[in-house]
Amino acid sequence: MRIHTDTIAVTAVVCSIIVASTEAWSPAGLFRLDRRQHLIKHPLPTRLQMAPPRQSSAPRSAKVEEIENRESSHSTDIPSEAPSFVHEGELNYAEEELLSSLAAEEGGGKNLKVPQIHLPPRLSNPGVGWEHHHRATTQFVHGHLSRMKANGDPTKYLVSNTDEWKILDEHKEEIDEIHLRDLLQDSERSGAMYAEHDGVYLDFSRQRATLETLDLLEDLAEKQELTQKIKAMMTGEKINFTEKRAVLHTALRADRTEKVYVDGKNVVEEVHEVLDQIKTFTEGVRSGSIRGYTGKRLRNIISVGIGGSYLGPEFLHEVLKTEPEGINSALGYDLRFLANVDPVDVERTCADLDPEETLIVIVSKTFTTAETMLNARTMRQWLWDFMGNDKEVVRKHIVACASTSATEKVKDFGIDTDKYFFRFWDWVGGRYSVCSAAGALPISLLYGFNLFEKFLKGAQSIDKHFATAPFRENIPMIMGMLGVWNHSFLNYKTRTTLPYAEALLKLPSHIQQLDMESNGKTMTKFGVEANYNVGEIDFGEPGTNGQHSFFQLLHMGQPVPCDFIGFCQSQHDLCLDGESFSSHDELMANFFAQPDALANGKTADEVRAEGISEEDIPHRVFKGNRPSMSLLLPKLTAYAAGQLLAIYEHRTAVQGFIWDINSFDQWGVELGKKLAIDVKNHLQEARNSDDHVIEASNPASSRILNYYVDQSRDDHVCRDANNASSLTRVTRKTHADHSRLPPPVQHDLAGKGGRL
Ligand code: F6P
Repeated sequence: MRIHTDTIAVTAVVCSIIVASTEAWSPAGLFRLDRRQHLIKHPLPTRLQMAPPRQSSAPRSAKVEEIENRESSHSTDIPSEAPSFVHEGELNYAEEELLSSLAAEEGGGKNLKVPQIHLPPRLSNPGVGWEHHHRATTQFVHGHLSRMKANGDPTKYLVSNTDEWKILDEHKEEIDEIHLRDLLQDSERSGAMYAEHDGVYLDFSRQRATLETLDLLEDLAEKQELTQKIKAMMTGEKINFTEKRAVLHTALRADRTEKVYVDGKNVVEEVHEVLDQIKTFTEGVRSGSIRGYTGKRLRNIISVGIGGSYLGPEFLHEVLKTEPEGINSALGYDLRFLANVDPVDVERTCADLDPEETLIVIVSKTFTTAETMLNARTMRQWLWDFMGNDKEVVRKHIVACASTSATEKVKDFGIDTDKYFFRFWDWVGGRYSVCSAAGALPISLLYGFNLFEKFLKGAQSIDKHFATAPFRENIPMIMGMLGVWNHSFLNYKTRTTLPYAEALLKLPSHIQQLDMESNGKTMTKFGVEANYNVGEIDFGEPGTNGQHSFFQLLHMGQPVPCDFIGFCQSQHDLCLDGESFSSHDELMANFFAQPDALANGKTADEVRAEGISEEDIPHRVFKGNRPSMSLLLPKLTAYAAGQLLAIYEHRTAVQGFIWDINSFDQWGVELGKKLAIDVKNHLQEARNSDDHVIEASNPASSRILNYYVDQSRDDHVCRDANNASSLTRVTRKTHADHSRLPPPVQHDLAGKGGRL
């Protein structure tokens, strides 16, 4: 890049001012003479002091060296000619250093930058005395900077200000002129718009994008240093800058031999220590060598956790339930998830289970989440109701998965932290924790550790692909960049995940938390709000159920980019005698048809050709031009589930990196929790006295809270244990009731003796 001569001139001048000017010894003097105090307090780093020769740590090109040597050799003469070339970076670097120290004084904002300034010829071509130069330049530079400061443009750093972004904005206008139906006929384009890795086939040819769009998205990714940011994440840099934490869910599935350091410690070693602990423990439970307080086998597992401590593990559980190896290894065992604090969820989870055969796994990174901790106390009480209020009951029937920073809380709960505390770390985000003990323990208890290992291997395969594959072949990168394109440029506010596999019924809800808790933000790393769309609304449903639910809208309502996920082989295919299609082919026929229907639509002429009456035609036209992408994998196994998980984790990260937001914190969940505590205090006061009137933060809240208390006063459970079981207050019926009441012998369904 060629820099303007006058720009260079100003750089040299700035430097020489530092050296030569007597009074204003420092650039501070350039700004406000009283800054001198500042520099006395915070002397400029040597590299900014132009004492001949300057030793600076800033990387310096040969050119800069040459200029400075010339300057230092001529320190006393007036520079007669403008230096020939200066590296932009160096200048900014110096400015950066200088201004950040000044900015600190100026209230911390970083928007006090000295840009490259173009000097009018009268200044750039010195001919007159040095003094004149100094004064004129000082005023000029200072004037320019304070103007900048006055009407500073905080959005300047936003990605939307980059040329790459602006070019994409312009390109969008061209794309708006083209219909997907036509783009799809371009075989060269379609031939370039798919990618494959380790059995995963991604077809993104039904995106409203051309090959040029991909080039421009690649430019944007480069501009945003996407590859460097991915590397920073995977090598343990503390990229979660608001919590000052590394983001290392990839380390949870790294090979034992790999090394990733956080604060000087190789975290992979610790990861495998815990995986070994889980393997030993789950094999002990499954072999019966580890038993309950009364000596019974522990064959019921209740995993108590919410959010990331539940959605990921449940997604995987639903996959393995019908996975051939999973079916066999789960026989005789039962895994249930208790997430909601709704007492009905408690009863639905455990009423028919024998507590003596039940192991409670408390999954909570912080061990502070209100719902999880109340449910955990409830489960503890349930155990005590049946086996007596003995510490050993807790030590034998309750284990925990939590972050090391919660160790004391786990101990205080009465759990045997030497043997039954399965730790993970603060560098694992809750919604990224399914590969940690949070998923490994409940899943391995039901399906055996081997199957969980296959899940980790699938995720690892995508991690390696993500870290190494070039842009056009990199599946999570392409999906992420097209996500940015669809949301920030084509303005699609929502996105839907449509797995054509019933066993993936919990994937959309896992992606909802993964994506919306990660990118549901507007604040960028610059402390400036994004002036572009960030964070889609995700929803989804398995195919073909969704087709009979919200597909009307997808085809004729507001367009929603779709992800179709399908498998070449079913976990369990069926082909009834006399049927020409297997059930899986029936399913997959829709998987292939829907993306084309969305893309091509149906024109008025095509409708008319079907003999539809003129007045009905408008209601039958499909606009089409609705983007989707299709992921096709060989079969839904534990390995494939790991691949899918990592693909979506990395897609979310890519979008956050491009949008310059922190995808790894979730401060937005705190306010609601805080207000819930206030409400609980109001309720407690109201419940403890008959005439207490709640005064909440606003009249509407006061009214509805007092209404709730009044309406629930009579049968409030804390007042009297209405129709609870005699054995426990936690459930109305118990396993004893369930086991005692034989099922009714026969129902005479319309005289057919119960047979359909
Ligand atoms: O409230 C949101 C959240 O913090 C999620 O990020 C997290 O997955 C969930 O709650 C549960 O948190 P924990 O695992 O600490 O109980």
